[in-house]
Amino acid sequence: MSTDLAIETTGLVKVFGDNRAVDGVDLRVPAGTVYGLLGPNGAGKTTTVKVLATLLRPDGGEARVFGHDVLKDADAVRGRVSLTGQYASVDEDLTGTENLLLLGRLLGHGKPAARDRAAQLLSAFGLSDAADRQVKNYSGGMRRRIDIAASILSTPDLLFLDEPTTGLDPRSRNQVWDIVRAVVAQGTTVLLTTQYLDEADQLASRIAVIDHGRVIAEGTKGELKASVGSGAVHVRLRDAHQRPDAERVLTVALNATVQLDPDPVALTARVNGHGTELGAAEQAASALAELAREGITVDNFSLGQPSLDEVFLALTDRRPDTGTAGTAANAENAETTEKEPAA
Ligand SMILES: Nc1ncnc2c1ncn2[C@@H]1O[C@H](COP(=O)(O)OP(=O)(O)O)[C@@H](O)[C@H]1O
Ligand SMILES: [Mg+2]
Repeated sequence: MSTDLAIETTGLVKVFGDNRAVDGVDLRVPAGTVYGLLGPNGAGKTTTVKVLATLLRPDGGEARVFGHDVLKDADAVRGRVSLTGQYASVDEDLTGTENLLLLGRLLGHGKPAARDRAAQLLSAFGLSDAADRQVKNYSGGMRRRIDIAASILSTPDLLFLDEPTTGLDPRSRNQVWDIVRAVVAQGTTVLLTTQYLDEADQLASRIAVIDHGRVIAEGTKGELKASVGSGAVHVRLRDAHQRPDAERVLTVALNATVQLDPDPVALTARVNGHGTELGAAEQAASALAELAREGITVDNFSLGQPSLDEVFLALTDRRPDTGTAGTAANAENAETTEKEPAA
């Protein structure tokens, strides 16, 4: 057992009846990093987190947090972790300040220290203006931020962030991402679960893709993307007559299958990243240059990131079956996208 690992699991299993929610998961999470657990609804992310946070007992395998066994040394584990997301201890009827003060006092901070820390966190999380408002009146994004603030009142060694941005609008997502980066900069290890490839890409250094309770791919985000392909180039031509030529040029330039869109001037090609050191954008740029050299006029082009759908297609030959797990787990994470009230 290496002490450089914040989390180490071997063959971890958790069953609910005959549902193997976690079905033999091996994880090695280096300390001091953000580790992404990426998977669709019902994949087993929350169950894994709950076992690691000692909220659920595993049915098989082993799990250690900073070397402490989650069953035998549960107290030691609890002393080093903090959990946010669906279980935050924030009280809806209290204001932002009151919540952080109360939790700070519970953690044993003196009154002035608790007050300072609360003000500091509210300011850092862009909640100063909402400090004296009851949390039940917060938007989804503000609520997520106060949850995270509460969970890092005292800097934990390991922070579980369970789908911290599901349902948030882009601006709130960016704010949460900034917070996660700031938390890691303080030395905290973060286990981040997410359904969004771009989120894992933004934050995590390593990613495990989980599906039906199993890890189906693991690696650095570079490795994962290379195995999946880096995205798709969409090209719109000036002249539909040039499309067969464009198809030929792109096929060679990108070493990929080119798809002809229903629109007669449009083509789509996968940038697969295989056998080249070039990034997706560079590959796309050189393909565009090749089109220009052949006298093919391109009016418009875009390079899209691969989506979780595409990751799953590449890894499993099917799309994630997100719709099927109609469970409490879904309901817990369900939140409609909403606008932040003007501050
Ligand atoms: N408390 C529970 N009782 C019974 N089944 C559960 C419970 N929690 C989760 N499950 C099931 O375990 C599987 C994994 O759920 P979960 O870990 O919540 O997935 P995720 O967090 O990736 O969406 C799902 O099939 C879900 O229905
Ligand atoms: Mg979940």
